Amino acid sequence: MAKILVTGGTGYIGSHTVVELQKVGFEVVIVDNLSNSNIEVLNGIEKITGIRPAFENIDCTDYMALDRMFEKYPGIEAIIHFAASKAVGESVEKPLLYYRNNLTSLINLLQLMPIHKVKHFVFSSSCTVYGQPDELPVTENAPIKPALSPYGNTKQICEEIIQDTSHSNPFYRAIILRYFNPIGAHPSAEIGELPNGVPNNLLPYVTQTAAGLRKELKVFGNDYNTPDGTCIRDYINVVDLAKAHVIAVQRLLDEKGEKAVEIFNLGTGTGLSVLDIVNTFERVNGVKVPHSFAPRREGDIEKVWADPTRANTVLGWKAQETVEDTLKSAWTWECRLAKLREEKAANAEE
Ligand code: UFG
Repeated sequence: MAKILVTGGTGYIGSHTVVELQKVGFEVVIVDNLSNSNIEVLNGIEKITGIRPAFENIDCTDYMALDRMFEKYPGIEAIIHFAASKAVGESVEKPLLYYRNNLTSLINLLQLMPIHKVKHFVFSSSCTVYGQPDELPVTENAPIKPALSPYGNTKQICEEIIQDTSHSNPFYRAIILRYFNPIGAHPSAEIGELPNGVPNNLLPYVTQTAAGLRKELKVFGNDYNTPDGTCIRDYINVVDLAKAHVIAVQRLLDEKGEKAVEIFNLGTGTGLSVLDIVNTFERVNGVKVPHSFAPRREGDIEKVWADPTRANTVLGWKAQETVEDTLKSAWTWECRLAKLREEKAANAEE
């Protein structure tokens, strides 16, 4: 089966996607600079699938290194491009880092594609491009709103770069996937989310608080115009999300696309509040998540959830996992991490 390049393949969504690709027989080459991931993720992937993917420690902003990588692995047929900086707050502090990383990486790959005869490209985008939509659930036709952060702006600009590049040269075929909020971990608990330092995102903060690593969760704002006053998001299981990438790649390889660039929302279609998540997490896992209300977080959208009809009908993809099972998988993964930490500490003492 085809050889696929996965940039950012040791990251959270990337690693789950590599597993799903290998499970159906694709050959995977991972390129990652490990700036926000760990080489041990390859062990987890190998444990689940029995296959250790090829790995190259390369920063995608390094054009020459990428060029050499394409020479080393001839016959790559498609690229799934995850590698990017993704912390909203950090992007406000370090905008140039975000513009350099996220834009240069994309431009390098698009430039190298015709040189190495790679036609197919899947891009990780985000529902952040919709800002606060005027209508919910949000469809792919909703207007793009001014970005609220340099991170969000990079996703918008990257989408435009892909569209412009494809208009300029019919060689390119691309699928842009707009993710809602990915959560959970692989059911084997061999891979999951590994946030660096204090988590920005809700779920790792919830699991770390339940594990006693954080004192309490701050719920940012309880005065929003929502039933319980807290923000609403569309939380999507990371394995479900990963499976959509396999379908997208296959669609490109089969040349089934109706347009040179197709865009799909990847969400469940259901919105849940911060308190829904906390309460459900406590109930299904039988653990407490101490929490209190704090002021609103700057830049937060009040409510957003997907209309996933296009992905459901055109891709034939649908989110399968329940939020209950997904929150269980997140807790199992956090417990696994705690066990690994204990083992490391015990080894260090010996
Ligand atoms: N939240 C808290 N406390 C926390 C962390 C989060 O109350 O400690 C709340 C937020 O205020 C928000 C919700 O939980 O209401 C979800 O927050 P996340 O940070 O997990 O997710 P966001 O929706 O803010 O952002 C995510 C990704 C971004 C992406 C965005 C839109 O992290 O990369 O979705 O796609 F841009």
